[in-house]
Amino acid sequence: MKPEIVPAAAWPDRVALLLADRLEAKPDLVVCLPTGATPLPVYRRLPATLLDRRVSMARATVVMLDEYLGLPSGHPARCDSQLRSFLLDQLDPRPGGFVGFDVDGPDPAAACVAFDAAVTAVGGLDLVVLGLGRNGHVGMNEPGSAGDAPTRVVRLAPSTRASAIGYGADPPPTHGVTLGMAGILAAREIWLLATGAPKAEILHRALDGPVTPEVPASLLRHHSGLTVITDDIAATGGSPRSD
Ligand code: PGA
Repeated sequence: MKPEIVPAAAWPDRVALLLADRLEAKPDLVVCLPTGATPLPVYRRLPATLLDRRVSMARATVVMLDEYLGLPSGHPARCDSQLRSFLLDQLDPRPGGFVGFDVDGPDPAAACVAFDAAVTAVGGLDLVVLGLGRNGHVGMNEPGSAGDAPTRVVRLAPSTRASAIGYGADPPPTHGVTLGMAGILAAREIWLLATGAPKAEILHRALDGPVTPEVPASLLRHHSGLTVITDDIAATGGSPRSD
C-alpha cells in the first residue's frame, strides 16, 4: 500500500482541496470527520478553500466518528465541541446535516444504535476521514478491534486516555463510543491521515506490517477505496524529504 506523500507545508491544502473535489462531485456528500490534532490544519484551511472553489457544505451531512463518555455537554475536549469550534462554526453556510452520538442520555449503547440508524437514514457514508492513533487505532477502535466490530461503547487504551488529557480532559475519560470497524469499512471511500514524526512508526506498521486487529488501521488495507495521505515527515520517519 503506497501512501500519497505530500510535503508537510502543502499537506493541509492538499487534503482541503481533495475534500472540495468530493463536494463538487457530490454536494450532498455524507462525510464522517475526525477530531484530534491531525485534521486541525485541514479544518483551518477548509473555509477558504471552499470559498475559492465555489463549493459549500450546505447540502452535505457531517457525521461524527467517535465521542468520549462522561464529559459534560460543552466540555472543550468533547469531540462534538472540537468539531463545532474548529470546523462547523467556521463554515458559512454550515453543513446542512449532522449526525452525532447522544452521549448525554442514560444509555450509550442505545445512542450507538440510534447513530447507526441515522447514518443509514442519510444513505450511508460516502467518505470516512480518519486520523491514526499512536497505537494504531482509528476512531476509538482500539487494538484488538476486528473488522466486523460494530458501533459500540469501548474502553479507551492508555495512550488514547493520555491524548484526551492533551485535549483538556483531566482526568481523562475511561470509555467512549465509536463508529465501528464494520461501519468504517462499509463507507464508499476511506482516507487515512497521518502527519509528523510521532506517527512514523505506527504508519509503517499499519501500511507494511501484518493485517491484524492488533493494528486496527492495518485492516483498512482490505478496502478498495482507501487513500492514505501523509506528510513527508510521517512517511520518512522523522526527517523531511529533500527531493
Ligand atoms: P491525533 O489523534 O490526530 O490527535 O494525533 C489521532 C487519533 O488518536 O486518532
